[in-house]
Amino acid sequence: MDKMIINGGKKLKGEVTISGSKNATLPIQVATLLTDAECTLLNVPLLRDINTMNDVLKAIGMNVKGKKDNFAYQAKGTLKNMAPYDLVKTMRASVLVVGPLLARLGEAKVALPGGCAIGLRPINIHLDGFKKLGAKVEIRKGYVTLKAKKLVGNRITLDFPSVGATENLMMAAVLAEGRTVIDNAAREPEIVDLADFLNTLGAQVTGAGTGMITVKGVKELGGGTHAVIPDRIETGTFMVASAITGGDIRIKNARLDHLTALAEKLKSTGVEIEEQDGTILVDGSPKIKPVEVETMPYPGFPTDMQAQMMSLMCITPGTSIFKETIFENRFMHVGELQRMGADIVLKGNIAFVNGVKSLSGAQVMATDLRASAALILAGLVAKGETEISRIYHLDRGYEQIETKLAKLGAKIKRIKE
Ligand code: EPZ
Repeated sequence: MDKMIINGGKKLKGEVTISGSKNATLPIQVATLLTDAECTLLNVPLLRDINTMNDVLKAIGMNVKGKKDNFAYQAKGTLKNMAPYDLVKTMRASVLVVGPLLARLGEAKVALPGGCAIGLRPINIHLDGFKKLGAKVEIRKGYVTLKAKKLVGNRITLDFPSVGATENLMMAAVLAEGRTVIDNAAREPEIVDLADFLNTLGAQVTGAGTGMITVKGVKELGGGTHAVIPDRIETGTFMVASAITGGDIRIKNARLDHLTALAEKLKSTGVEIEEQDGTILVDGSPKIKPVEVETMPYPGFPTDMQAQMMSLMCITPGTSIFKETIFENRFMHVGELQRMGADIVLKGNIAFVNGVKSLSGAQVMATDLRASAALILAGLVAKGETEISRIYHLDRGYEQIETKLAKLGAKIKRIKE
């Protein structure tokens, strides 16, 4: 398994270009199941999860052609109505195939995703919504089977604004009879991007980005081309990288309006952030102050940035407080940061971070995607050498992060093992 070696202490300077959004691309890849016409996706990030989703779609019968960041999908001919366990267990986003398969074939059989490092990750909200659209749901031997001769539009109120449930139900509703209203819907930019793609294919989705999404069912969809939005979490990770190293970087192909909660929080510490014609400038040179962070559904502070922000606060004088409200086990990075000298006290879903003068490089282990990013950030500022193992977690969500960081002056290299 590959390792990452970082020698800390370099201030990052220069320019970095953000890749396409992983969490926008995944549902859009799946949405191509809804039509038998060809769809082309542009600005697709080269990530493990994107490749895994292509494998899931090919296993269903999708024709996938692609090179670099440009992929063509065509779900023509007979499609299998199931997603196998060996693929679903590696990436729970595979559960998103249920909506389109149910809508297109009238049946979907998907392995229950099971939990992952950060939480149990149930899909009850998805299943309750499908029942509202007229599906019969059966759970047996670790698989869930859904059947519906015809999906009929309905009003669905989500218990929680689940991103995946909103995406799954929106995709199913596109081919349902009549109108569907999804209330208490997730409002993430990735939901808006999926809705934009569906409408490009001929769907009639309105309200994406608000808490109430309306879908008017259509008979069938055509094809189309779509460039996915930039990755806001990769953007946020580089913003923190500039802050933690006291650097000064320019972030291109990024959308600051997708990260207002993070930007406001960073500015409240003293980090200087501004946007000049689509480029985000982050000056981390000022002395910074501690913060209080509570993760919330969008547009609140993103849970996917909690670990990265914590790394920054590990070396910020004073006590910072992090409350994780979205996932039940998203402090796996704490133990590893403590190995580097961080002073963090956990009390349930709250972490108290007392800033220390400096972190020291150590051998640490990546446990999940965003925890890996937090360890990279800590390594950039720690004294001495940090060796991060199990970085396959990192490759799920960051395209060539070591190349991008090295171009900004970081002393970082990947050891292939
Ligand atoms: C998406 O996961 C993202 N993944 C996650 O990013 C992100 O952290 C999460 O949204 C929250 O913003 C993708 O988009 C591929 P949820 P998702 O359904 O859809 C509970 C990353 O690092 N819940 O909004 O799985 C659930 O257990 C990843 O890129 C139910 O209880 O998130 C969790 O506690 C990590 N029942 C909370 O809701 C359900 O049926 C949020 O889950 C569904 C969810």
